[in-house]
Formats: sequence, C-alpha cells, structure tokens
Amino acid sequence: MDEHRWVDDLDAVDLDELSELYRLAPLGVKPPDRLAVVFGNSMFVRFAYAGSRLVGAGRVLADGIDCAYIADVAVHPQHQGRGLGRAIIGRLVEAARGHKKILLYANPGTEGFYLDLGFLPMATAMAIWDDQGRAVEAGLLRAAP
Ligand SMILES: CC(C)(COP(=O)(O)OP(=O)(O)OC[C@H]1O[C@@H](n2cnc3c(N)ncnc32)[C@H](O)[C@@H]1OP(=O)(O)O)[C@@H](O)C(=O)NCCC(=O)NCCS
Repeated sequence: MDEHRWVDDLDAVDLDELSELYRLAPLGVKPPDRLAVVFGNSMFVRFAYAGSRLVGAGRVLADGIDCAYIADVAVHPQHQGRGLGRAIIGRLVEAARGHKKILLYANPGTEGFYLDLGFLPMATAMAIWDDQGRAVEAGLLRAAP
C-alpha cells in the first residue's frame, strides 16, 4: 500500500478539492457548502493525502454510544485498488469502536468490498430516501412488495 498523510481536521481540508474527489470517484455531486455541513456534523472524519493531493475521504455520523454510521467513503480513481479504501474504512471503524453498531449502506457493486472488511448485510434495514423512486432505480432500495 502507498504511504499517505492522514488528516482528521476538517478545517485543514479544501472543500472544493473534496467536492472534486466525489465527482471523480465517482460518488455523485456534493457541493462544498453541503460538505461543510455534513462533515462538520460528523463525529469522526478522515482524509488521506498523497503529497499535497486529497485522494481519499470518509466520515462517521455517531452518537457516542449506540449508533455509528459510516458515509461518503471515496478514493480517487488513480488511487483505487491499492488498499486505500480498506485503510479508510479501517480508520473509521477504529474511531467508531465501542459503538453498539456500526452501519453503512454500500453503493451497488461495492457489497463485496464491505463483506471483505467484516460487514454483514442487514436483514431488516429500512430507509426513507428524499427521492424514493430514484433510490429504487439506482438499486439502493427495493420497491414496496
Ligand atoms: C469502493 C472504494 C471506496 C474502494 O476503495 P479502493 O481503494 O479501490 O479499495 P481497496 O484497494 O482498499 O480494496 C480492498 C479490497 O476490496 C476489494 N474491492 C475493492 N472494490 C471492490 C468492489 N467494488 N467490489 C468488491 N470488492 C472490491 C479489493 O479487491 C480489495 O481486496 P483484496 O484486499 O483482497 O485485494 C473505491 O473504489 C471508490 O471510491 N469507489 C467509488 C465510490 C464508491 O463507490 N464508494 C463507496 C460508497 S458505499
């Protein structure tokens, strides 16, 4: 695995560069002002740099005791497949250790990645999405039976 510099201080991160990382990964359009809110409200944040370039990121929304939710894990395409995603999840799980449950939802196609890292599929997970129809189309939710 390549050497990375790890940052856990949101103030040290260029939010335009973070937004660009998600566009490239790809993990959707995440405007800098919204990233400031969601990362700012997260208990744990981790950023990986290769030199001066931001190449990986992730966060944990957590309550300190019961639930910790891992979100927005992404690796720059030029750095994918070299162990960085595994390292980000490892650091986020370590930060969230002690919570009764650590949850996430996998982007369709990445389930194997999380299975390898010790996550199991949730048998009864349910969700309300802001756009349920689109989430069903994207394979994130199953339509009501
Ligand atoms: C998914 C993602 C975070 C993985 O990061 P990565 O740095 O490429 O993954 P790693 O190199 O650490 O891979 C770790 C292991 O998972 C496997 N793996 C990686 N992506 C996988 C996938 N999509 N499905 C199944 N296994 C996968 C690797 O082969 C590797 O296995 P190995 O250790 O036996 O060789 C990265 O590809 C990414 O940013 N994708 C686009 C955004 C995204 O989908 N994010 C996830 C949101 S839920």
